Amino acid sequence: MTHWTAKIFGLLLIVFIALLSACGSNRNNASSGPATELPAALADTSISAQGDATRGKDLFGPCAACHTTNREVLVGPGLAGLFSAKGPVLPKGVDYNGLLPNGKERSEANVAEWIRTGGTGRIGYMPPHNLTDQEMADLMAYLRTLK
Ligand code: HEC
Repeated sequence: MTHWTAKIFGLLLIVFIALLSACGSNRNNASSGPATELPAALADTSISAQGDATRGKDLFGPCAACHTTNREVLVGPGLAGLFSAKGPVLPKGVDYNGLLPNGKERSEANVAEWIRTGGTGRIGYMPPHNLTDQEMADLMAYLRTLK
């Protein structure tokens, strides 16, 4: 490498690093909001935004066999606050640290996956539920209303 190509290469490297750190600091600014701001996974409404909460309420029928829409625990957790930072109402002694029973983040995509596949956690077994994408969006919009 001749002397001047080495200089240009060095200059490009500096510009590249400057751009990288600029991106990094933007990302930091986005995540450091007021304390009440939801974690990024919970704030993503891309599924519920396509849904209708009124239709979703009707679709909740089969879920009601095991879940209340308030803070009372039945077979499964009370689903009030499912999309709050604290999460749904778990029985005494169970703590998932804000994650789903399968250890994944409580994003809408992961909640939808949990509802479709079901699974066993420390509370018990939830059977799989076969919903279309539209039904899932409606149900998710309804679950978002549970506070
Ligand atoms: C036969 C009982 C049963 C039915 C029906 C059922 N669930 Fe569940 N569900 C459970 C149990 C039990 C758990 C807890 C699993 C664990 O943590 O061990 C659970 C967990 C969940 C969770 C995870 C909560 C958390 O910890 O973050 C969600 C969300 C959920 N159910 C939604 C639904 C929805 C929506 C429906 C209807 C489409 C439904 N469930 C139907 C039994 C049921």
